[in-house]
Order: sequence, then structure tokens, then C-alpha cells
Amino acid sequence: MDSDPLRAANDAAGSGRSAAPVAHPPVVVGSSTAPSRNSASDVFDSVLREGPELFKGNREILRETHVPSRLPHREHQIRQVAEILAPALKGNVPSNLLIYGKIGTGKTAVVAQVRADVQRRGDLAKKLTFIAVNCGNVETPYSLMQTIGNTFAPTESDRIPTGWSLDRVASTMRELMDVKGGIVLLILDEIDRLVARSGDGVLYTLSEVNNELKHTRLVLIGISNDLKFTNNLDARVRSRLNEEKILFPPYDAPQLQDILRDRAGEVFREGVVDAGVIERCAAYAALENGDARRALALLRLAAEMAERDRSKRITADHVVKAKSRLEQDIIVECCRTLPPHCKVLMYAILQAYERRREGVQTGDVYDGYTRLAQRLGLQPLHARSISNYLSELENLGLIRATIVSRGRGGRTREIVVDVPVSETFPALLDDPLLAALARPRSLNQTILTNFDNPGRTGPSS
Ligand SMILES: Nc1ncnc2c1ncn2[C@@H]1O[C@H](COP(=O)(O)OP(=O)(O)OP(=O)(O)O)[C@@H](O)[C@H]1O
Ligand SMILES: [Mg+2]
Repeated sequence: MDSDPLRAANDAAGSGRSAAPVAHPPVVVGSSTAPSRNSASDVFDSVLREGPELFKGNREILRETHVPSRLPHREHQIRQVAEILAPALKGNVPSNLLIYGKIGTGKTAVVAQVRADVQRRGDLAKKLTFIAVNCGNVETPYSLMQTIGNTFAPTESDRIPTGWSLDRVASTMRELMDVKGGIVLLILDEIDRLVARSGDGVLYTLSEVNNELKHTRLVLIGISNDLKFTNNLDARVRSRLNEEKILFPPYDAPQLQDILRDRAGEVFREGVVDAGVIERCAAYAALENGDARRALALLRLAAEMAERDRSKRITADHVVKAKSRLEQDIIVECCRTLPPHCKVLMYAILQAYERRREGVQTGDVYDGYTRLAQRLGLQPLHARSISNYLSELENLGLIRATIVSRGRGGRTREIVVDVPVSETFPALLDDPLLAALARPRSLNQTILTNFDNPGRTGPSS
């Protein structure tokens, strides 16, 4: 731990500047009808009396949904994206573009900023249509093409409904797009998740669209945090998508400090952020892949911890508390956004892993998944789809899978859970679909039960 990059931040935190609290007139609360002590009203009164000590502006500025006006340390990438898309302003068709980079490296933010800058160009931008799709929210190729097509539907009755054949959806999407004319820039954010879920068929269709269009030209802008995802693409799709490529490197700690200082200056009152707080948030996030989202979330949570403590300053201790809260929140959030079958699969993995306390084999996981799906009244997915979901869970960092040799039994994947089991179960059970599954018995109970049923073998090894 002696080379711990947090140490410097820690030391700096010890010499925290004294805060300059801002005086607020107390809010007078009627006393004759005062509710009994310890009621929620007491808490509200005291919060109102104290006034907003830490925040000077809109606290949403620290949230993911806020689009910052400046993106420090991304000037080069903004320029690169702008240069690639600039021909569109003159009516020329830009190259397709693939943007790579680890999570929280500003990919979505940079593309959103360039898009906003293009759209500010008034008349020039009129011939351009941006469509932004987060592929993480798109379940099937059908819904992706339906979404794209419906962007151009002039009336409600022109919209693509559900229940058509995929071919019909594709041809109607093309027709609707061609009526619009000009250049369509399709941003496929988290494109790797689309491929993991549904293969590359829909990307093939999209990359071929221009051959069928007369008045419109489609440009694909893919964004991915999986650097290797193009390896699994059909060679034609890969080369079309890869016409231009930009890599977003992770932020280092000083860069994250600049990003945080920028936001902190906008959102907090002067003097409320102790020395060392920004450095600590940046150092933690730099250790976690240089993720700006993580750095900002730490700062926001640290401020919330400080408020809850009724502290007039945000201290390094609040950052430490924020870090452990965030780790739990991340698991919950990650599980919440999984598609239903993927949640059932994760549940099956946890069950098997808790039972064995060591790597579990994919065959056992698949059996467990099938049983759970049937119990929930779901039609179990085929092994190939489950294999894709396993890759997705691995990409999300929830599990790790390694290939192990089983001697003459061939090779198999062994899965290890990479998150705290006890916190992940409730996160999955939050979904009403899975709520019917009881929390599995504790490990001791499970072992006893196995002794009680010696005939029932555990997962094969
Ligand atoms: N250079 C920067 N300056 C200010 N804020 C930034 C910067 N880079 C990223 N952010 C902020 O960090 C958060 C994460 O950024 P963004 O969503 O663009 O990352 P990403 O690379 O798309 O990540 P993912 O791969 O997980 O989708 C956002 O809130 C964004 O506003
Ligand atoms: Mg993104």
C-alpha cells in the first residue's frame, strides 16, 4: 500500500482549509402546531433552517444526465470527430466512424457535443438528420430498424408497427429514410451490446442500405467500450464500420482532477470542498480505468454524505464513504438494466457459485438457468443466446469466465462471480419478474441440505 496513489490525496486532505460558512436567515416554523419530536417534520424543519450550505447552483450539474458545456482533455477527439463529419455540412457523405474507448472516457459526451455544434449551423444542418440510439436499450434488430424507420414516419399511420417480418421492416425503414433525403447520421451507442445480443446481421443490413437508397445517404457512427468487438463481425461489416476509427484513452488522475474542478466550481459554494477531496475522487476513478463517470459520481455522493452528516464541508472521509456506497450502487444499477433472461441467468450463476464457492461450469449454469426460467413461466433461451449473455455479463464486470481443460472431457468455461454475492441477489430480486424466486438458503444451510440428500449430487466437477 506504500505506493498507494491515494496517500498524497490523504495527506493533502489533512490540511483542509477552514470553511467559510454562508449565513442564511433561519426559516421560522410555526411552534404552536409543532409536531412531536423525532417526526419527519423535525428533519424537514432542520434542513430548511440550515439552508443550502454546500450547493450554490443546480445540483443536477453533477449528474450523468447533465451535458457539460466544456469537455477538458477531449479537445483533440472533438476535433477528430468534427473533421470526419464536416463534409456533411457541404452535402458530401462522410465516412462511417467507429469510436472506441473504455467506460467513462467521454465518448457519448463528445459525440453529443459535436452533434449539438453541427445542429447550431442552422441552414447547413437542415440537410442532416441525426438519429441517436443507445443499443443497450434495444432488444432486437426488429426494434432497432423500427426505431430508425419511425423517426422518418410523416404520420402515425406510416409508422412501422410490431408483428411484421424482419424483411418488411427493413424495406419499410429504407423507404421511409429515402423520402427524407440528405444525409442521415446514425449514432449507434454501445454498438457492441447490439452485436453481443443479436449478432451482426442488422449491422450488415444497415451498412448495405445505401445501395438501395436514391435520395438519402446513411452514415454509421458506432460507439463501443469493448475494444475487441469488431473481431466477431463479418469481414464486410467490419471494414465498412471501420472506415474511420478514433480511440479514446482513459483519463489519468490529473485529467480527472481538471474535469472535477470544472464541475465543482459550477456547483459548490466557495470553500466547502476540503483540500484533497477532488484528488481523492480522481485517484479512485483513475485506478478504476480512468472513468470520468465514476469520478463525478464519487464527488456527488460525497456531497450527499456531507449533507446527510449536516457537515458544512465535504471532507476526504465523505469520499471514502461515497466510494463504498457507490460500489453497491453500481451492482444494483448494473443488474437493474439487464434484460430479463440475463437477470435469470445471473441469478442462476449466483446460486451455483454460492453453493460451490468456486468456479462453476457453464453446463451447470445453463441447467440452473433453465430450471429457474421454467419456474418463472419463461421459455428458456437456447444455449447460444445464453453464451452471448455470459459474454455480456463478463463485459459488465459481474463475472469472469476462464477456459479450463477437463482432460479427456475437453475444454469448458468456468465462471467466477466478481461482485459480492449477498448484495447482488437483492438487486436482481428488485425486478418483479424475479421476485417470485426466494432468496437461496445461506451456505451452511445448503451444505446441511446436501448431507440430508446424499443421493442428490451437486454440480458436476
Ligand atoms: N472531458 C470531460 N469533461 C467533462 N465531463 C466529462 C468528460 N468526459 C466525460 N465526462 C462526463 O463523464 C460522464 C461519462 O462520460 P460519457 O458518458 O461520455 O462516457 P462514455 O465514454 O460514453 O462511457 P460508456 O462507454 O460507459 O458509455 C458523463 O457525465 C460526462 O459528462
Ligand atoms: Mg457512452
